[in-house]
Amino acid sequence: MSKYVAAIDQGTTSTRCMVFDHSGHVVAVDQKEHEQIFPKAGWVEHNPEEIWQNARQVAAGALAKADLVTEDIVTVGITNQRETAVVWERSTGKPVYNAIVWQDTRTDKICQELGALGGGQERYRDRTGLPLATYFSGPKIRWILDNVEGARAKAEAGELLFGNMDTWVLWNMTGGPDGGVHATDPTNASRTLLMDLDTLTWAEDICAEMGVPLAMLPEIRSSSEVYGNIRARGALGGLPISGILGDQQAATFGQACLSPGEAKNTYGTGNFVLLNTGTDKVMSENGLLTTVCYKIGDNATIYALEGSIAVTGSLVQWVRDNLGLISSADEIETFARTVDDNGGCYIVPAFSGLFAPYWRSDARGALVGLTRYVNKGHISRAVLEATAYQSREVIEAMNADSGVPLKSLKVDGGMVVNELLMQFQADILGVPVIRPEVNETTALGAAYAAGLAVGFWASEDDIRQNWAQDKQWDPSMDDATREDLYRNWKKAVTKTFDWAE
Ligand code: G3P
Repeated sequence: MSKYVAAIDQGTTSTRCMVFDHSGHVVAVDQKEHEQIFPKAGWVEHNPEEIWQNARQVAAGALAKADLVTEDIVTVGITNQRETAVVWERSTGKPVYNAIVWQDTRTDKICQELGALGGGQERYRDRTGLPLATYFSGPKIRWILDNVEGARAKAEAGELLFGNMDTWVLWNMTGGPDGGVHATDPTNASRTLLMDLDTLTWAEDICAEMGVPLAMLPEIRSSSEVYGNIRARGALGGLPISGILGDQQAATFGQACLSPGEAKNTYGTGNFVLLNTGTDKVMSENGLLTTVCYKIGDNATIYALEGSIAVTGSLVQWVRDNLGLISSADEIETFARTVDDNGGCYIVPAFSGLFAPYWRSDARGALVGLTRYVNKGHISRAVLEATAYQSREVIEAMNADSGVPLKSLKVDGGMVVNELLMQFQADILGVPVIRPEVNETTALGAAYAAGLAVGFWASEDDIRQNWAQDKQWDPSMDDATREDLYRNWKKAVTKTFDWAE
């Protein structure tokens, strides 16, 4: 009888469960969106209890859709939106506040105060690989403990637990208040600003400075080992959970970027380019992050350089939901195709400030180059082009840091069905863009990590063999046009600085 591996993908906009067979093909999928809560400008929250209920439902839903039962599944992996922070009560499982999402900028003041202690934005770079920025979990935990009445005292007494979404799902799935496993993996821990990148342990001095009690932090295990078993009741009951990877690292793994020099770009809510640098921890001089790529069991830690872009796919959602310019996400391509170019218009979606390579929390979005000539088609094109220009910026930074220009780019994620965007990406980069047959690389990567731990896949060679190309886009734009467009983009970016208070 065939056996499968399941992965729970707890993303920014939805939670999915996917089931994969041994060849890495999708057998079943179920998905549920959750509410995006925007209490104030710059604030973004999720309801952790809604997300946990969704995780349970999609697990059952995926099995039902493919007529599978729990016994058909060998093991389960978890992957997740990274950085998003939840704090909850150990004894009841009740969150003390909503999850503060990675896009949220409310911790700007906390970051500035910490930076003022010395070193500014670079204060923790050597130890953690990260600039001091609102993106990461540590300052979000600090905000919760400072702003929820009684929370700090309870956290110090060991009554509160912190987790990113991987830990929140793992703890609940393995029993919650009744013996839930409170653990994480180094890819997630490396996004908190609290983990030492060399030792993969919590940096006690940074935690103290950040005001985060060690008692509330999860145990850092590897990315591929059995953490515990799923509580008996419900779908997947009794199965082990044996893989955890932050979603971008999972996509890197699922794309089989397993050797130094291999990179992928995922087009999701935001875009995230990760370059595998092997066992070398490369410190960026060009605004990228140094992060853990994966750690499989007792094997050596593999590191990555990352270019994180906060807003790409979510710009399309914003145009749909906030402006009503399109009624569905795929219409953006339809309108973009009604024109030959952007008509001189550029959109820089600095909704969460700008992440890599700028790290400017004071930036806010800009729409520039408008004339009476510009129409809906041009704006639609500018929306898509913004993703490609931002990707070029981080890939240029990567080329500068590594000294080896990227020869081609593996892509995945929701927006890679957009042919116009993929061709424009190849054009603006000047290198081929390659999409794999199985585009669901995030969930697949988590399934691989889980399956490797229990011998379902024998080694990373199985992952390499399963990877197959679907389509390639080659650059066809002349150099002068490419550089003109990119120069205009860079100019547009400068218009976003110094907006936030
Ligand atoms: O760092 C944030 C990232 O993990 C979110 O990914 O796919 O949920 O937008 P996604």
